[in-house]
Amino acid sequence: MQATTAIPRPPRNGSINAVQKEDTPIHGWYRFVLSYPPHLVRQYLSGFKVGPSDLVLDPFCGTGTTLVEAKKLGIPSVGCDAHPFAALASRVKTTWNLSADLLRTTLKNILRRASRVSSTHGLGELSFTALMLQEAPAPQPNGFQLTEEEEKLLPAGFLSQRPLQRLLILRDEIERQTAETPQAIHEFLLLALAHVIANGAGNFAFGPEIYRTKPKPDYDVLGHFARHADLMIGELAAAQARGLAATPAQVLCDDARELTEVPGNIAAVITSPPYPNEKDYTRTTRVESILLRLLTDKASLRGVKESLLRSNTRNVFVNDTDSGEVEEFPSIQSVCRAIERRRVELGKDSGFERLYHKVVSHYFGGMRRHLRALRPKLRPGAKLAYVVGDQLSFLMVPVATSKLLAEVAEAEGYRTIGCELWRERVGTKVRNSPTNEKTVRVREEVLLLEKAEP
Ligand SMILES: C[S@@+](CC[C@H](N)C(=O)[O-])C[C@H]1O[C@@H](n2cnc3c(N)ncnc32)[C@H](O)[C@@H]1O
Repeated sequence: MQATTAIPRPPRNGSINAVQKEDTPIHGWYRFVLSYPPHLVRQYLSGFKVGPSDLVLDPFCGTGTTLVEAKKLGIPSVGCDAHPFAALASRVKTTWNLSADLLRTTLKNILRRASRVSSTHGLGELSFTALMLQEAPAPQPNGFQLTEEEEKLLPAGFLSQRPLQRLLILRDEIERQTAETPQAIHEFLLLALAHVIANGAGNFAFGPEIYRTKPKPDYDVLGHFARHADLMIGELAAAQARGLAATPAQVLCDDARELTEVPGNIAAVITSPPYPNEKDYTRTTRVESILLRLLTDKASLRGVKESLLRSNTRNVFVNDTDSGEVEEFPSIQSVCRAIERRRVELGKDSGFERLYHKVVSHYFGGMRRHLRALRPKLRPGAKLAYVVGDQLSFLMVPVATSKLLAEVAEAEGYRTIGCELWRERVGTKVRNSPTNEKTVRVREEVLLLEKAEP
């Protein structure tokens, strides 16, 4: 297994990671750009021979691809994510016993009131022409604004003023109209709001890293919300009509390094933990998390970061100790030393660059804690699939994630039963000399493990 290979041709390319058209219902309610596709989950559920009498776990469930796919197949599941927004997304996407009639009535009441309030505050309906021409009156202060603390959390330029005001009016109306309904109805509509933010109202996109786009002076927030919530309700009703609602799916907001509340007798794990790279998972969903009041100030952001596996320099803290778990692994220590050596050679001296090697050791230490907490929850012979990508994020030093993870897993009572290439991604260009540039491909693999019996 190699961390990188020189070009040419990849055996499989990016399209393998795309969601197939027939899989969009429910999966499409809200997805991370980096989520794996439903057909990957199907492949391993089938390969592991998991059926309706088994329990599947995704300990890093993100936006719930494993859980939704298991539920579609009538297989009970448990998911866990330490980020409250990911947990909310997964919870909504696996709660299929809501009344579609109540949702429709509530949606109409929200739209009616939000439309009236918006007009009163100078935010009337938007014509498509006005949007195309990017003509919008200058935003006026109207009381709909973030708190000072929330403002500080919002990445600069990620949301323009008028779309923000429209979103806040809509959020207030969701809160008002669902005050007396079950919490699940409230969260369902909040997830539709999150979709509007991430797929239209915000000035950001993913490529795959989150980046700022041209600012939108205005956006048809209510129109997008109405269409998306209506689609979600239709897909929910269709799943109910097919008798799929009863299969249990439990979602916990929990740290996978502890798994305190996860039940036992797990037959299979299909998951994709973070990779050791510079991706800050709290930034990918930052705007949605603020608007949904899941992140309210710096302390709450720090709390979430601390509960996440260390995988980037933005979530490493002075008192972190996970690295101590992998001191006896020469392979991991040698990668960390190589990163630190390269940093010194290149004269890279910033605070973040100095943390690169620590991220890697905390990452594998955290994964070791996760695997240790998981083992007693697994039934004998349980099978596990971990989708992980090799990395070059730290000064181009190769980190062979699946190979190193397999070593850690073996030390915690697992047997490696395979490692399959999922896809190759084009990595950064490496410049060997001013005239010689080389593109490298980075492997994303599925590490297959089995609970080993003593
Ligand atoms: C690669 S994403 C998973 C994507 C998922 N497969 C999907 O389909 O959306 C990794 C997830 O791990 C979560 N995570 C990171 N550290 C965690 C921890 N210590 N415990 C639980 N979840 C964690 C992140 O919040 C993120 O949602």
